[in-house]
Amino acid sequence: MALVPTMGALHEGHLSLVDLGRERADVVVVSVFVNPTQFGPNDDFDRYPRDLERDVRLLAGRGASIVFAPDTRTMYPGPLMTTVTMRGITDDLEGAHRPGHFDGVLTIVAKLFNVVQPDVAVFGQKDAQQAAAIRRMVADLDFPIEVIVGTTVREPDGLALSSRNAFLSASDRREALALHAALDRADSLAREGIDDAGRLLEAMREELARHPALVVDYVAIVERDSFRPVRRLSGPAVAAVAARVGDTRLIDNVVLEPRER
Ligand code: PAJ
Repeated sequence: MALVPTMGALHEGHLSLVDLGRERADVVVVSVFVNPTQFGPNDDFDRYPRDLERDVRLLAGRGASIVFAPDTRTMYPGPLMTTVTMRGITDDLEGAHRPGHFDGVLTIVAKLFNVVQPDVAVFGQKDAQQAAAIRRMVADLDFPIEVIVGTTVREPDGLALSSRNAFLSASDRREALALHAALDRADSLAREGIDDAGRLLEAMREELARHPALVVDYVAIVERDSFRPVRRLSGPAVAAVAARVGDTRLIDNVVLEPRER
């Protein structure tokens, strides 16, 4: 059995993970739960888009077998005294900008694993740091689960699909494209053989600076698995960006493969 954990407001990115689950398992369970503990006090928990009926329809059309959509009291009958906390992978980037976020994510994912007991769990590379952290949690705590990470699904113009794109006005959306443009720049330079992370970061910042309406939270190049900063590309690395457009915070990343020498 495969589990695809989501917070609903499903789009083609989520559905591509259902496809991956179906390749690996006869039964695909999709959880839909907007997990309050991974949102900070100033985050968008209250306005996070919710439309379970539409989600169920999309999932049925895609061949998912079971939708698990618990209410908050089912997952959190009372305050937790036990939570999952990680050091290292989750310290910087999203972890630094969203204190407590990864404790919330890892704890709910651990709970979903224990409730659903899947053989396979599918996550998206769109949330690269989350994927790395979950892989590590599964290894550290011996969950008998295979973690699969699907590639990021994008709009034809490159914008990564996100439930939060629904908040973007037409002009915000044009600004938001800069995230992809910056990552694309880093990707092309890396393919040309530039392996100095400093130069790649500079090129990305240059691209983002052309869009003054974007407030950049971070631009980083890190090892794909450890999320430690990289100075020179040698193994798989992730170039990651987070920025705010109006009230909406967007993240995106690309996996950089150093050119063979
Ligand atoms: P959510 O943001 O709903 O995302 C659910 C899954 O879909 C995550 O694994 C995410 O990486 C993946 N995803 C999102 N956009 C994608 C895209 N454009 N292409 C491919 N995959 C994409 O991530 C969460 O929910 C939560 O933190 C969760 C893991 C469910 C725990 O609450």
